[in-house]
Amino acid sequence: MASGQLSRAGALSCSGCRHACHVMLYCDTKTQLFGRIPIRHIILMQMRFDGLLGFPGGYVNPSEETLEAGLSRELLEELGVALPISAEDHVDCCHAPASSSSSTSRLITHFYVKKMEEEQIKEVEKEAASTATDHGQEVLGMVRVPLYNTKNGGGLAPFLSHSFIGNARSQLVDSLLRLDMFAPEELHKALAHSLKIHT
Ligand code: GTP
Ligand code: MN
Ligand code: MN
Ligand code: MN
Ligand code: MN
Repeated sequence: MASGQLSRAGALSCSGCRHACHVMLYCDTKTQLFGRIPIRHIILMQMRFDGLLGFPGGYVNPSEETLEAGLSRELLEELGVALPISAEDHVDCCHAPASSSSSTSRLITHFYVKKMEEEQIKEVEKEAASTATDHGQEVLGMVRVPLYNTKNGGGLAPFLSHSFIGNARSQLVDSLLRLDMFAPEELHKALAHSLKIHT
C-alpha cells in the first residue's frame, strides 16, 4: 500500500465518512488505429454531467449495502449493465481532498479495476448509450482512453490534459503503470506534454 492510502478495513471503520466506489473496466484488444497503430487495450471512462472525465461508479452507503453491491448498483444506473464486482477487484481507497466535497463529512473514494472480454466491453458501450437510465443525464457518454502517442503529439497526452473529477486522473495513470499498459518513460513524456498543452 502506498503512503497516504487507507486499508479497506480502516476505511470502513471510519464512522463519519461517506464512501464512493468507481471502477476501471478494461480489456485487451488486437484492434489497430488506421490499421497500423495497436490500441492494445480498451479502457472505459465517462464524460460526466459536470464536464469532467471520471470512472463509472458513485456513492455507496455501507450501512445499507456492501461496497461492491453499491458499485454494481451504480454501474446498472450508469452503464445499463448488471456487472458483478468482487472484493478482489478492490485496488485501493483514500480520503478525497476536502475541497472536492461540499458536505462536511469526509469522503473516501474506493477504486476497483476489472478486466473483461472485448465483447463484454462493447456490450457495455452499447447499453450505456441506449438503456442506461443515467445516459444523457448524469452521464453524457462513455469514452475510450487513447493508449498511444501519435507522431504529432496526439493520443494519451491530450487526453490527460482534460479535466478530471477527484483523483481519477492519477487513478488512470497509476493503473497504466501497475498493469504494464504503458512504458514508464513514454508515460512520463505524455504526462509532461499534457501539462504544457493549455499553457
Ligand atoms: P449522484 O447519483 O448524483 O449522487 O452521483 P454518483 O452517486 O454517481 O456519484 P459520483 O460518481 O459523482 O461520485 C461521488 C463523488 O466521488 C464525486 O462527487 C467525486 O468527488 C468522486 N468521484 C467521482 N468520480 C470519481 C472518479 O472517477 N475517481 C475518484 N477518485 N473520485 C471520483
Ligand atoms: Mn451514479
Ligand atoms: Mn457516478
Ligand atoms: Mn448515486
Ligand atoms: Mn444518480
